[in-house]
Amino acid sequence: MNTPTGIRLSPVPDQRHESDSDFPLAYLCDDSAIDLDQTCNWVGENRDQLLALATEHGAVAFRGFPTPNVEGFDRFITSLMIENFPYEKSLSNAVRINRTPRVFSANEAPPDVRIFFHHEMAQTPIYPKYILFFCEVAPEIGGETPLCRSDILYSRLAERCPEFAAKCEQAGLQYTNVMPGSNDPNSGMGRSWQSTLGVDSKEGAEARLESLGYTYQWLENGCLKATTPPLPAVMETTPGQKTFFNQLIAAYCGWKDERNDPSEAIRHGDGSRLDADAVRVAIDLSEELAYDHRWQVGDIVLLDNTVAMHARRSFEGTRKVLASLAEMRTQSFAVQGGPR
Ligand SMILES: [Fe+2]
Repeated sequence: MNTPTGIRLSPVPDQRHESDSDFPLAYLCDDSAIDLDQTCNWVGENRDQLLALATEHGAVAFRGFPTPNVEGFDRFITSLMIENFPYEKSLSNAVRINRTPRVFSANEAPPDVRIFFHHEMAQTPIYPKYILFFCEVAPEIGGETPLCRSDILYSRLAERCPEFAAKCEQAGLQYTNVMPGSNDPNSGMGRSWQSTLGVDSKEGAEARLESLGYTYQWLENGCLKATTPPLPAVMETTPGQKTFFNQLIAAYCGWKDERNDPSEAIRHGDGSRLDADAVRVAIDLSEELAYDHRWQVGDIVLLDNTVAMHARRSFEGTRKVLASLAEMRTQSFAVQGGPR
């Protein structure tokens, strides 16, 4: 890679080194003479390598670059030449606010709400290949973004709970959630059904859900309960490398608000309940393997969403971490042995 003096690989605090691989890989810019144009030129010239490094390592962090504000972040992303995946098109259940056409608040949930490990939108048929995070305002206390290598997690889970791993591969997962009739900013999953589905009528919602293969039920209070078709629980990202590409941990631990009961949120694709002991092992492994990114203003983190999971610790004070999604992909799943 053609890299100017002043930009170099450098460890970040608490960086992990499983399988001799830095996690995250981290670039530091420590030359104040390097401006945004030079940064964007470097990113653009090396975009293939940077994206490949995100896939190899799961995450690449950029610290000390001249990207103090949202405009700089937007230009950094544009230099990577990856296709925007707009929030409006996503089936994400989080409430977010757009700042530029491709940059939005990561999740508007209150500071005390912890968001558990997940692959972005792995609980829907469409998901982004890449996610970028950016720190506009660092929190006073807490608010780290934990990251976890999902390939390492899955290989350890498969060793410790082989039957559960096989069940995940054979039967996949399906998710149920209750969407409110209007945005609920007090919930980590409070996006209204109108916004989630990009519709303004019940008829429109039903047509969209049917096109996606969901089943649904209207509730008395204007809420919509929707269940996904069976989706994969495990992804083979490269030959021989599998990741735990799903929202199992987040759904099991965290899909809890006044409308949602986590014990109802997730099943295998054949309708069977999950092995609670094995789920506990997966949750414990995610914390054992976690790297907590402690934000500094201007930090950018690029994730390959199919390789690394992310989460959010609770915090105090003001925290503004922005996000951008790129390269829409689709997924579907056929339960082995056919539908139940
Ligand atoms: Fe997320």
